[in-house]
Amino acid sequence: MTSSAPIGVFDSGLGGLSVVRQMRKDLPNEHILYFGDSANAPYGTKTPEQVRDLSYAIVERFQKQGAKAIVIACNTATSAAVNDLREDFDFPIIGMEPALKVACDRGHGKRQRIIVAATPLTLRERKFADLMQRFESDHTIYRLPCPDLVEIVEHDQLDNQELVDATLRRYLADFDLNEIDSIVLGCTHFVFFRDAFERLVPEHTAIIDGNEGTVHHLRVVLESLGKLAPEDETGTVTLANSDTSAHMADLAQRLLNR
Ligand code: SIN
Repeated sequence: MTSSAPIGVFDSGLGGLSVVRQMRKDLPNEHILYFGDSANAPYGTKTPEQVRDLSYAIVERFQKQGAKAIVIACNTATSAAVNDLREDFDFPIIGMEPALKVACDRGHGKRQRIIVAATPLTLRERKFADLMQRFESDHTIYRLPCPDLVEIVEHDQLDNQELVDATLRRYLADFDLNEIDSIVLGCTHFVFFRDAFERLVPEHTAIIDGNEGTVHHLRVVLESLGKLAPEDETGTVTLANSDTSAHMADLAQRLLNR
């Protein structure tokens, strides 16, 4: 496989486009094949077995398309499938992880109060329990499942500010936000709500996502394998979706350019 081969990026739907945006910025020479599984979204309320099967089918599709690496731009699919996928495929598979370490490091040794917003499945899976174990003795970490945010993106309601604000207020209602140091966006769909979160929380509360870290990790892996695309290459993005309607294609393009 040459270094000009594409990178396959997938998500349960459209949230992974926020990762593609970061990739275009940081890795502009790469060719990206994006697959959104919107016909099966949301993943976050499915069983781990269902999410694993769906993820395998998508990775097999990328394998046939000659991908040199895969980015699982979906925290839920990463939690449910990344370990098995890495055993069964011989190209690098990069997953997402809630950026809890970044949130903890902000305290420079001081105890932080952190909300991790993610899907119910991500927060239930072993992978997240392992992550919690690394940080929870030194920090106060709250799990916040927010499945409706995925639906808002998939149903093209992001510009419905009243709905967005009401949904976020409902999820955050149990917290005294003055006491919260940061909110970690542990789902790639949620990155599209960054501005809305920032509108609702006090200035000192940081909104943190894992996209930049994931793309940096991808760069390091490709570099170590000598598989970064040549610098004179102009990267491309090709979008595909299991929902083949014209509306979905239009929505995906709008989110990519947002
Ligand atoms: C979902 O489909 O529920 C969201 C997937 C994610 O965790 O990014």
